[in-house]
Amino acid sequence: MKKVVLAYSGGLDTSCIIKWLESKKYDSIAFIANVGQQEDFKSIENRALKTGASKAYVLDLQEEFVNDYVFPALKAGAVYENKYFLATALSRPLIAKHQVEIAHKEKATAVAHGCTGKGNDQVRFETTISLLDRTLEQIAPVRIWEFKTREQEIEYAKKHKIPVEVTKKSPYSVDKNLYGRSIECGILEDPWAEPPEEIYQMTTNPLEAPNKATYIEIEFAEGIPVKIDGKSYQPVALIHELNKIAGANGVGRVDMIENRLVGIKSREIYENPAATVLHSAHQELEALVLDRESMRYKQPVAHKYAEMIYYGLWETPLKKQLDAYIAKTQERVSGTIRLKLYKGTCTPVGRKSKYSRYKIELATYGDKDVFDQKLAEGFLRLWSLPYE
Ligand code: ARG
Repeated sequence: MKKVVLAYSGGLDTSCIIKWLESKKYDSIAFIANVGQQEDFKSIENRALKTGASKAYVLDLQEEFVNDYVFPALKAGAVYENKYFLATALSRPLIAKHQVEIAHKEKATAVAHGCTGKGNDQVRFETTISLLDRTLEQIAPVRIWEFKTREQEIEYAKKHKIPVEVTKKSPYSVDKNLYGRSIECGILEDPWAEPPEEIYQMTTNPLEAPNKATYIEIEFAEGIPVKIDGKSYQPVALIHELNKIAGANGVGRVDMIENRLVGIKSREIYENPAATVLHSAHQELEALVLDRESMRYKQPVAHKYAEMIYYGLWETPLKKQLDAYIAKTQERVSGTIRLKLYKGTCTPVGRKSKYSRYKIELATYGDKDVFDQKLAEGFLRLWSLPYE
């Protein structure tokens, strides 16, 4: 038997994979990554072992996820196609990295995942793994196995006594971590259909959110959020807290048609309360402290960075080079942003920073004005000069 490290979720697919790999003479080591999806990890671990995994790893990766994946994306201002904050996409290279580490530790020669052949996640897993260790054999059972329908998988599970709860069958495919939830399939495949309220978990319906606005202040230190309303938080706790506050105000719902890497357009719903607030606040603070050209130049970088996360290129040289550039841009991104959360909206209403480039004496039309308006005359002559 060859050893394989399987990224295991506890669902029907990855459970069937353990048995299926066994039939192909692979001994599975189940790896369960806690990225804040708030599940009963003990029972997932038991399920893996009962299904036939020879060993199970449960690793709490939340802190690493926030510090090394979520925050760099925030500093970059990375948002895919202007709407998706990349919660799912960011978790994949992290899970893949640990999968490789476990494979090395266990002297496994293969790794496996439960992604389909139509999505982006297979790309993120396999590209990351290839970049970290080309010698590992990569197995994607769902792309090649004989099951065509969920019913066939359930049959297989029953036959092999795989302990999965198939009673509460949801029509949706959901991926969750502490930075957001991604929901697709079912009625959502009709791009004309409004998402039913039942799909949401992290956000209150904006119509039912409080009738009074909630104000919050977020303080950043070099691009990283460190305080909410003057109180310090550890990174993971800060994200949880913002999810709670913003979610209660119905903030963070996204309904989009996105372009998958494999060429398919898909309809996905996202819930990302904390990400919505953080990107909004971070961008607002950059507007205050960065000079005009730094801001302009950073925009296409943000776009590129988002695309690289989406495309599974986290471990590439260019992505690391961009990290160095982005880190440099964040040196002055310290300060506080005040936001108003109200029935699904998130609006920055105040900003301050010791590095502020806003100069009241230049901007004002009041009596503190020091701007010499006469200088504008010569400037304007020269401005139009190239067109004479
Ligand atoms: N479309 C998102 C992405 O590619 C999420 C993928 C997982 N979504 C899901 N509902 N299972 O990052």
